[in-house]
Amino acid sequence: MYIVVGGTGFLGAYVVQCIVDKTKERVLVVARKPVSYENVGGITDSIQFKHCNVVSREDIDNLITEINMTEEPCKIIYLAASLHPEEVERNPWNSWNTNVISLEYLLSGMKRIEAFIFASTDSVYGSGTLEHRFREDERLAPVNLYGTQKMARESIVNHYGYSVLRYSLMLGPSIIKGKKHFYDNLVETLKSGKQVELFEDSYRSTIDFRTAAELTVKLLLEKKESLPSVLNIAGDEALSKYDVGRQIAKRLGVSEELLIPIKVSDGGHIYNASRAACTLLDNSKLKKLLNLSEIKMQFEV
Ligand SMILES: NC(=O)c1ccc[n+]([C@@H]2O[C@H](COP(=O)([O-])OP(=O)(O)OC[C@H]3O[C@@H](n4cnc5c(N)ncnc54)[C@H](OP(=O)(O)O)[C@@H]3O)[C@@H](O)[C@H]2O)c1
Repeated sequence: MYIVVGGTGFLGAYVVQCIVDKTKERVLVVARKPVSYENVGGITDSIQFKHCNVVSREDIDNLITEINMTEEPCKIIYLAASLHPEEVERNPWNSWNTNVISLEYLLSGMKRIEAFIFASTDSVYGSGTLEHRFREDERLAPVNLYGTQKMARESIVNHYGYSVLRYSLMLGPSIIKGKKHFYDNLVETLKSGKQVELFEDSYRSTIDFRTAAELTVKLLLEKKESLPSVLNIAGDEALSKYDVGRQIAKRLGVSEELLIPIKVSDGGHIYNASRAACTLLDNSKLKKLLNLSEIKMQFEV
């Protein structure tokens, strides 16, 4: 059985879809409210939903009981988070509770399971340069509280002997019915011939949700016995959101003049919490583990 905590989010939806496509195992989606997925439908025979607000002790106790009573081998992909840096900084104690305390409480009550993967972020590394790709063993220096909380969560997960996946920025169409992602809005804006402002000087090893989900499930299918304690999940290319816009414009056949490049220093009206301008990840460990020669962002339009 797979348990996807936060399986109703953008990445989680692709993870659930990928598990259904690639395995015959039962999937338990854990979140506060159920959603319907494109192409998979809603809750089916193989996908079940369990309500759980991770800040509720009662809800987590229920989840722990369900996990501990399950006789099937159990693999958990833990994606739930308070993840918007502004929100985390506005409510530091609430987000600490959602992100850190609840995770420790779950892990301390759970029996040892077949695999547990925790979704972390490139934000734990902090600011880098275009010339440098962060390796998993480098010193961490997050520039905001979201990154600091992820760092604390990584230590807890590793303490219990489980694995951390550090994802780079992920973008892509949402496959959750009725919920749009920034990427969907970007595609729609360009299709309607309207202009859009995009950061041109903030670079990430950006990857699409589908590829990230496929890599995650592949790791569990092929390498669950030899997962490293920390692994970067990232694309090969350094891409700014402006670069992503250019690729989408090209595929849509619309003019690149609709894209207005802006600089991070101009973005005070968009972000309040600090952001690293450039964080690139070394993905060689991931490629070696899965025997891959390249990992490219897919631009679905
Ligand atoms: N998106 C990115 O670019 C990116 C990059 C690096 C790492 N990550 C990490 O990847 C993970 C998934 O990201 P995402 O973009 O898919 O985020 P998302 O769309 O916001 O999904 C978050 C999920 O967590 C659940 N959740 C939030 N608060 C919860 C609570 N109190 N109790 C139970 N469930 C809760 C949400 O469901 P409900 O609200 O219904 O409960 C949802 O299923 C996160 O851990 C994020 O930090 C994301």
